[in-house]
Amino acid sequence: MGWSKERLEHVARTRLGGAKLIVVANREPYIHRHAGGGLEWIRPAGGLTTALDPVMQACGGVWVAHGSGDADAEACDASGRVGVPPDDPNYVLRRVWLSKADEDGYYYGTANSMLWPLCHQVFVRPEFDPDNWETYRAVNETFAKAVLDEAAGGPAMVFVQDYHFALLPRLLKAARPDLVVAQFWHIPWPGPEKFLVCPWAKDLLDGMLGNDLVGFHTQGDCNCFLECVDRALECRIDRERFAVTRGGHDTTVKPFPISVDPALADDYLGTDWPERVAGIRAQNHLGDRALLVGVDRVDYTKGIPERLRGVDRMLQKHPELKGTFHFVQVGAPSRTHIPAYRDLTAEVNALAAGINAAHGTADWQPVVFLNEHHGPEDIFALYRDAAGCVVSSLHDGMNLVAKEFVTARGDDRGVLVLSKFTGAARELPDAVLVNPFDVEETADGLFAALTMPAAEQERRMRRMRAQVDDHNIYRWAGMLLSEVGKRVRDPLPLAEEADEIEPEPDPRERLIEERLARGNYLTAMHLASAGV
Ligand code: F6P
Repeated sequence: MGWSKERLEHVARTRLGGAKLIVVANREPYIHRHAGGGLEWIRPAGGLTTALDPVMQACGGVWVAHGSGDADAEACDASGRVGVPPDDPNYVLRRVWLSKADEDGYYYGTANSMLWPLCHQVFVRPEFDPDNWETYRAVNETFAKAVLDEAAGGPAMVFVQDYHFALLPRLLKAARPDLVVAQFWHIPWPGPEKFLVCPWAKDLLDGMLGNDLVGFHTQGDCNCFLECVDRALECRIDRERFAVTRGGHDTTVKPFPISVDPALADDYLGTDWPERVAGIRAQNHLGDRALLVGVDRVDYTKGIPERLRGVDRMLQKHPELKGTFHFVQVGAPSRTHIPAYRDLTAEVNALAAGINAAHGTADWQPVVFLNEHHGPEDIFALYRDAAGCVVSSLHDGMNLVAKEFVTARGDDRGVLVLSKFTGAARELPDAVLVNPFDVEETADGLFAALTMPAAEQERRMRRMRAQVDDHNIYRWAGMLLSEVGKRVRDPLPLAEEADEIEPEPDPRERLIEERLARGNYLTAMHLASAGV
């Protein structure tokens, strides 16, 4: 039986045994802001909120998050609560208010200037600032208070998201040992040589071992985490069960590759997507030329300059392509208070201008950089219209743009050019896999996207769609809830579904995984295409 919203609803009801579900994530799923004299709401850019909102809509409960919109306070009650989705509420968003100093030290500082570069293999030096660290600690305490408030008076399962809250699980367990606490780390985990240079490495690890369950996207990330714990802390590691025992408390550490809700593609596309695309094409002088699209937050992990250099190199190698296509980069502004992010925006603008000057003509510009927030309706319309989607991250835990693109291609066309250094590459070996640090390989991947025969596109896209349909966000959440449900007292029996919760690993997936781990991408692709 496949995973659907209804099945997840059922699993949540039974495995949580009546415990309240509380999700904690820094980013809120809906942001209210002032516009045209009134209030409007938008969905933020970024994979986490896109992935978790359908889960919360299926399970119900409370989402605790930083209230970051300029009209957020006006939209909610005195305790910071508002029903969401705003147009048809079915769960509660509890907003936590942070001062500018909190945001600087916790979000821009420790989370995004220390942990973000520390966890990604991108050669950006992490900043170790004691003041920022103190603010991060204080903000984790602020969130702990809000969660304890929401959990008061009954059993609850707290599902903590990401690197903003490494200290939160320990704080929660210390205050309420009966809470079931799980954390999903949405970004990669580095090896011990890298991680243990952090002055607060032990505090971070100890905080996370307050969890009953820690999830990562890949087994590789789990292994790196266990290696760091082993070297830094007094504890016992059971490598058979993938569990750490510290101070008498067990933490299970397992991979759960995150995904998307494939059904959302049809909702976002609607029947009028061709009109939306026509509008975007007209506004940006794209004519009816083939499009390659990139959709990212403007972040130095995403490899945006690398893909632009790939476009440049492709045009040098294949001048016959001039005038036949556009590369459209949708780049949502992100973390712009951090100098590295501002510098990146300037670099992308300069590269785009340089490529357009070198190869463009009076009526054709190869690169179009749309440096603003776009709603999912426009983004899915672009996915559907494009000849190819380019995901060239230098390092990425999963990358949900890759999976979103696949779900938008109900026509079984379009080529995904995908970095080998994303978690998604392990699940989508039918993409054209490239090393974004290698400009020749990137250029050849882009060329393949523009020239691949329709039958080959269809063969690859069918398999990728089958993979994402099956390994969807409901399966991800169902697996996590089932694992953590083992810690819930008196869950209801799961009846006929029990043996589907922990399926035997697919031997083909395992083979592909092994080949990818050894860097043998061609064999992995061959195995996948041979249906081994
Ligand atoms: O996956 C990492 C992450 O921080 C997610 O939490 C989020 O979806 C995305 O990056 C966007 O980042 P931010 O919330 O900082 O805009």
